[in-house]
Amino acid sequence: MWGGDFLSNLLKINAEWCEKAMSLPLLKPIDLGGLAISAPVILAPMSGVTDQPFRRLARSLGTPMVVSEMIASQAMVRENRQTLKMAELDGFGGPASVQLAGCDPATMAEAAKLVVDRGAAVVDINFGCPVKKVALGQSAGSALMRDEIAAARILEAMVKAVPVPVTLKMRMGWDHNSLNAPNLARIAEACGIRMVTIHGRTRQQFYTGQADWAFIRRVKEAVHIPVIANGDILSIEDAEEALRQSGADGVMIGRGAYGRPWLLGQIAAHLMHGIRAEEPRLAEQKRILLEHHALMLEHHGTEPGIRIARKHVAWYSKGLPGSAEFRVAVNHATSAEAVHALIDGFFDPLIEQGVTAVRDAYREAGEGRIAA
Ligand SMILES: Cc1cc2nc3c(=O)[nH]c(=O)nc-3n(C[C@H](O)[C@H](O)[C@H](O)COP(=O)(O)O)c2cc1C
Repeated sequence: MWGGDFLSNLLKINAEWCEKAMSLPLLKPIDLGGLAISAPVILAPMSGVTDQPFRRLARSLGTPMVVSEMIASQAMVRENRQTLKMAELDGFGGPASVQLAGCDPATMAEAAKLVVDRGAAVVDINFGCPVKKVALGQSAGSALMRDEIAAARILEAMVKAVPVPVTLKMRMGWDHNSLNAPNLARIAEACGIRMVTIHGRTRQQFYTGQADWAFIRRVKEAVHIPVIANGDILSIEDAEEALRQSGADGVMIGRGAYGRPWLLGQIAAHLMHGIRAEEPRLAEQKRILLEHHALMLEHHGTEPGIRIARKHVAWYSKGLPGSAEFRVAVNHATSAEAVHALIDGFFDPLIEQGVTAVRDAYREAGEGRIAA
């Protein structure tokens, strides 16, 4: 068993691993033109998930940068109450970006001014949303990838409207016959956009298949502004591989942070400083969940908060023994006390038994959960 073959294979694997590890330099801060992003590891905007409590919590756990959920520019201009709540910043200092969607340049520009007045340090534009209502109903989101002239008008108007950096998030293209992200990125750069994030899928893929990190390299090679790679990054290893394949300047992570708001802090520590942080112990995860729940109730109000928080509570329990029954019970609980009692009843025995959680809420969540 300990013969030459085994040892030489082991040495070969080790050498390959070292070569791979060495070939990826530490990530560097990026400059958005007067605004430095000290660590380009960014929490993805996710409607109905990355609300202000989630962003605040993620920030407190080391996430370097966050983006608000997508905000409809028309609703922002009407100063709709719910919309204003979505645009609330996390109050943690550091650059906070607010994302806007829409198809009318003047309304988008007006909405950009409003969010900057409310403290946004960066305005992000959504050219990636695949949802029918947005893309087909309003010719916004990913539909703008099919109309580069309309896209350019929006980009120009928004850059002109605000003194802060304007960034763009898009997909590879509408479908595999029109992979125009590199061209649109060039147009964006010419319009004064300071950074582009590419979700490595087409609109027609929605969330199916695998994100194509290698394609993102084509965008990176097309422009001089920073490019961020996005899609299916669930771990430190995925982040490294996405950077290796794309040559991007940073990563954006969404579903990987379901029930793991500490993930981006861990990935940032590794990519920026080579520090590999341990997964928090289960007792710490429970503490974070309770804090998350309290923040949600404070932000949304008790009754809506309990309802909206259910999916998050479930994500924290994924992969742990008894989580299916726990989820059902949480879905029926209607008071904060009842939810807390369920959390105690679920986590405390596992903590006592020394169970360590190795779970991945997103992989287990399944495609069916994805709303936007
Ligand atoms: C529930 C959900 C909501 C989303 N909402 C938005 C949004 O508001 N704006 C946006 O640009 N992308 C949105 N996305 C796309 C994500 O930002 C991201 O591009 C995509 O999920 C791929 O990254 P991931 O694999 O790390 O999740 C959403 C995705 C999900 C799953």
